Amino acid sequence: MRVGILGSGLMGAKLGTLFARAGHEVVFSYARSARKLERLAREARGRARAGTPAEATRDADALLLAVHWSRVDQVLRQAGDLAGKVIVSCSLPMNKTDTALVIGRSFSGAEELAKRARTARVVAAFGTIPSEVLLSVFEARRKSRRPSLVYCGDDQDAKELAATLIRDVGFDPVDAGPLRIARYTEPFALLIAQLAYETDAGPELAYRFERFGE
Ligand SMILES: NC(=O)c1ccc[n+]([C@@H]2O[C@H](COP(=O)([O-])OP(=O)(O)OC[C@H]3O[C@@H](n4cnc5c(N)ncnc54)[C@H](OP(=O)(O)O)[C@@H]3O)[C@@H](O)[C@H]2O)c1
Repeated sequence: MRVGILGSGLMGAKLGTLFARAGHEVVFSYARSARKLERLAREARGRARAGTPAEATRDADALLLAVHWSRVDQVLRQAGDLAGKVIVSCSLPMNKTDTALVIGRSFSGAEELAKRARTARVVAAFGTIPSEVLLSVFEARRKSRRPSLVYCGDDQDAKELAATLIRDVGFDPVDAGPLRIARYTEPFALLIAQLAYETDAGPELAYRFERFGE
């Protein structure tokens, strides 16, 4: 798969690196320094390169949107034509100080994103996991008990593609339903952040749903 990374910070850099290590072709884009993007591409040790958001988008099978909510419009503008593109978004609709959701309860950031990128197919995924745990999850991917990762979206093909990426990083994908379920996954992400960053146990935290009675 060709995966364009829109936003190469904590989440984009790590997920892009893991996608490349899993065998995908990755283009890192949207950081304040081109040298950083080149370094990420070099260190990903796979088929990875640095580019502009437009280059990351052009031939992409999937795009990872991993920017602060305040940057979404700018990065979408720079990405160019998004018609039919699959956008896997981990971006949460947070305020400037990252202390509260600015959209919630009866709507979600993912639905707002789908409104703004009208011609694209949006899947919400990876927003419920701290960046710090991603490498450990990847390294443990051959173990039988994988951590869960919830995702949701309205386009079945786009969701299957997102599920492949989720699996490739080492998670067990949990289909939570249509995109409007992001109204629940986004506040859940804040619970995970609370447990990861506001306790003494450290940020290497993943979660797993267990079903009984089957
Ligand atoms: N971090 C987490 O663990 C986590 C977990 C779940 C969800 N999320 C969500 O995922 C999204 C990304 O989070 P993150 O922590 O990865 O953010 P981040 O580390 O701040 O990364 C954002 C990226 O955007 C780039 N950027 C910011 N302003 C820019 C500008 N003016 N021009 C060009 N590039 C610019 C940054 O460039 P530089 O590289 O130069 O800084 C960076 O590459 C957010 O919506 C967040 O809420 C994060």
